[in-house]
Amino acid sequence: MARPLGVVRELPERALRAGLLALSRRRSLGRVATRIPLTRAMVARFVSGVTFDEARPALERLRAAGMRTTVDVLGESVASVAAARAAADQYVATLDAVAATSADRNVSLKLSQMGLDVDADVCRENVARILDRAGELDAFVRIDMEGSATIERTLALWRELRPRNAGRGESGVVIQAALRRSADDLEALIAEGARVRLCKGAYREPAEIAFKARAEVDDSYERLMGRLLVDGNYPALATHDDALIRKAIAFARAHGIGQERFEFQMLYGVRRDLQARLVKAGYTVRVYVPFGDQWYPYFMRRLAERPANVAFVLRSVLGERRGQNPD
Ligand code: FDA
Repeated sequence: MARPLGVVRELPERALRAGLLALSRRRSLGRVATRIPLTRAMVARFVSGVTFDEARPALERLRAAGMRTTVDVLGESVASVAAARAAADQYVATLDAVAATSADRNVSLKLSQMGLDVDADVCRENVARILDRAGELDAFVRIDMEGSATIERTLALWRELRPRNAGRGESGVVIQAALRRSADDLEALIAEGARVRLCKGAYREPAEIAFKARAEVDDSYERLMGRLLVDGNYPALATHDDALIRKAIAFARAHGIGQERFEFQMLYGVRRDLQARLVKAGYTVRVYVPFGDQWYPYFMRRLAERPANVAFVLRSVLGERRGQNPD
């Protein structure tokens, strides 16, 4: 049993990361993986449930622990107009379901799930419909950022549709520190008063357009974070990186930026200790809570972010086969 784990540990981290990201794009594997009951226990670490009702206790627990939340209906890269419309229907239903609870009226969605690569007009209609409903419910809508090929279209669509719930819940976008273009994008967004979430970037990008070394990505994050803290409109600092979080706190203190002017964001199931510590220290922490059956690419990206998670997953599988409790 020690052998597969040992092999995994020996693999160079970057190769493993690249391999996992490549696997995350293999739809056929996703179709198989989602049918294997054994994977459920592992997936549950990062995914709050298959239905909204299953996700609800997680939302309530987080609220009771002083956290804010944003709900994500899992799904991306739909292959048909019908699937895109169904995903938009699901978001509208989720907004209604969230509004019927005491959870934050805040959702995050992906444009590839709304049909960006299938039919741009359908995608626009879908997002408009969601923003209209969000406006009626005073709910916030975050448009997640996907691979670099989608950035121009994502920002353009958000700019076009932003007025639909401006002043009635609002909407916002995401900037990825790993991309070289992000400093320019961020300046434009700051000038527009955009609500920006800053993250490192979860997609595999070529060196011509992206920083590859961890230190370069972290430096970029720190620079962009400084710009957002000084001039941004209630920025969201999405990271689990202790060092960057400490730098954000020190920067805000040094510049007299109050805790109410920004928030930290983290993923469901990741660094729960850090989430709790920040809440205790008085910071706003919003947890990104995904639910749904289309968890495969999301789950694979979480493995890629921390290849040690692969060992965790293997241990769970092997433990379960031998009748032991998974970690
Ligand atoms: P980093 O990867 O350096 O991790 C720092 C530490 O955090 C690790 O040492 C480990 O302790 C812990 N950690 C990080 N990831 C973990 C994991 N999966 N499992 C266990 N521990 C982990 N990306 C994107 O391209 N577009 C988007 O729209 C978003 N949206 C988004 C929203 C929110 C709320 C978050 C937190 C993140 C995103 N991301 C994203 C993902 C983001 O780009 C990035 O891939 C992850 O946050 C991991 O990067 P960190 O900043 O946490 O640093």
